[in-house]
Amino acid sequence: MKRWSTLVGRFIMLAPVRTVSTESRRCPLLTVQPCRGMVDEKIQIIIRNLLPNQEVTVHSLHQSEDKDFWEAFGHYISDEHGKVTVAKDESLGGTYEGTEQMGLLWSLRPVPGSRPALRLRKKNVLTPMVVNISVYSGHLSQGFSQASLLATTVTERWYMAPGVQRVNIRENGVQGTLFLPPGPGPYPGVLDLWGGGGGLIEYRSALLASHGFACMALEYLAPAMLKLTDVNNTYFEKAYQILQNHPLVQKDKMAMLGLSFGSAITFSMTAYSRVIKPQCCVCISGSHVVPVDKCLFKVIEDFTGLVDKVPVNEDNHLIHRDMLLPIPSDPALKVDVGRIKCPLLLVNGTDDQNWPTVESAEDIEMIMEKAGNRHLLTVLTYPDAGHLIEPPYTPHFRASNFILYDTKKKVVMLWGGQTKPHAYAQEDSWKKILAFLQEHLYSSNVKAKL
Ligand SMILES: *[C@@H]1O[C@H](CO)[C@@H](O)[C@H](O)[C@H]1NC(C)=O
Ligand SMILES: *[C@@H]1O[C@H](CO)[C@@H](O)[C@H](O)[C@H]1NC(C)=O
Ligand SMILES: *[C@@H]1O[C@H](CO)[C@@H](O)[C@H](O)[C@H]1NC(C)=O
Repeated sequence: MKRWSTLVGRFIMLAPVRTVSTESRRCPLLTVQPCRGMVDEKIQIIIRNLLPNQEVTVHSLHQSEDKDFWEAFGHYISDEHGKVTVAKDESLGGTYEGTEQMGLLWSLRPVPGSRPALRLRKKNVLTPMVVNISVYSGHLSQGFSQASLLATTVTERWYMAPGVQRVNIRENGVQGTLFLPPGPGPYPGVLDLWGGGGGLIEYRSALLASHGFACMALEYLAPAMLKLTDVNNTYFEKAYQILQNHPLVQKDKMAMLGLSFGSAITFSMTAYSRVIKPQCCVCISGSHVVPVDKCLFKVIEDFTGLVDKVPVNEDNHLIHRDMLLPIPSDPALKVDVGRIKCPLLLVNGTDDQNWPTVESAEDIEMIMEKAGNRHLLTVLTYPDAGHLIEPPYTPHFRASNFILYDTKKKVVMLWGGQTKPHAYAQEDSWKKILAFLQEHLYSSNVKAKL
């Protein structure tokens, strides 16, 4: 990971500290490093100058672009020198427990009294996610706004590293956003597809560009601007070619990355397309169970047509995974992954309640075994991880609001996962996804230059 300090010298890595009040003559000193960094970069939070064995609460607060407040907190006891080191000390309670360096980010949740079933997602990647880190006296679980504040500081978390360019793509009917790493290139290209929620989701592409990939977030379910009937195989092929033919992209170093429905498209395109022939692909929480002879429009229509039949749990959250089970034995109802000729990385969260990821991974493995391309498959399995395996330190959502594509009906979709193992899955899979892309897209001479 490129450090900001090496990219841009003017950034100072020590957080400015404002000490608000003191309970003793001591003045607690809070440092957060880096105070301005990438979202996938770990932060060091240290509090000094406390009393020995003093109880404190370390709290994070974020206001989302939708104006909702999100918080997380951990209960600590300072050591005999009056110091708390979040990366080393144990949280004894709060929104996370144990030694969790990044718990103040991955356990963020809406403050009590917030709107229900929220999901936190960055829309504008040109601005950072701002998180206030504060220290309070005592072990608090509520009433932070009235409590006695010992120290506070503001941190910025960025998806886009300095120098990354954001380019609107409106070409040949294709809509997306291309993110280009700083410098002359050429760079390997990654076509990035999100799932059935639709829209143009940029943050993962911005982050991948910050790691040296020319990455294009593709919009393919955008009711306002695109007719779904115009989105067929040709659409994805055109998008792939736009990226591949960009002067800063290496034509022969291409990847496709998809999550959820985006991974179904990735399976289908890499298996059947004559145009899309990537060097590798990554499928997160996906399934190959999509009828291959139907256009996307029909597939989505079939999905949403079944919504009334989707089982719900006791909270009335939709359990979509059951709709695709059992995995059909009829080959016409699924992508023939035996045709895939490039390395394929699957991310398999075992508590995925939205798609039958585990069953699909097993069937994919079987098909590839039979077809003789099993050696191309790598499966990452994460116990108790849910469907939405995102870049690291993003909060976990077991369920969240979801707008159905055709009817615009609002439902609550169950994604699954338990917070701590899900956070682990996000951190670990991201490292391995980056390593996989680097291995297959960077030739050794480029690697040496990085
Ligand atoms: C974070 O702290 C800054 C500076 O003190 C303040 O202006 C801002 O309102 C705080 N943010 C939240 C969400 O409270
Ligand atoms: C795909 O969509 C385009 C644009 O709407 C259309 O011109 C083309 O005929 C379609 N192709 C197929 C195979 O349906
Ligand atoms: C995916 O995870 C499940 C649950 O741990 C495991 O049984 C299965 O073998 C994994 N799939 C593959 C293909 O490794």
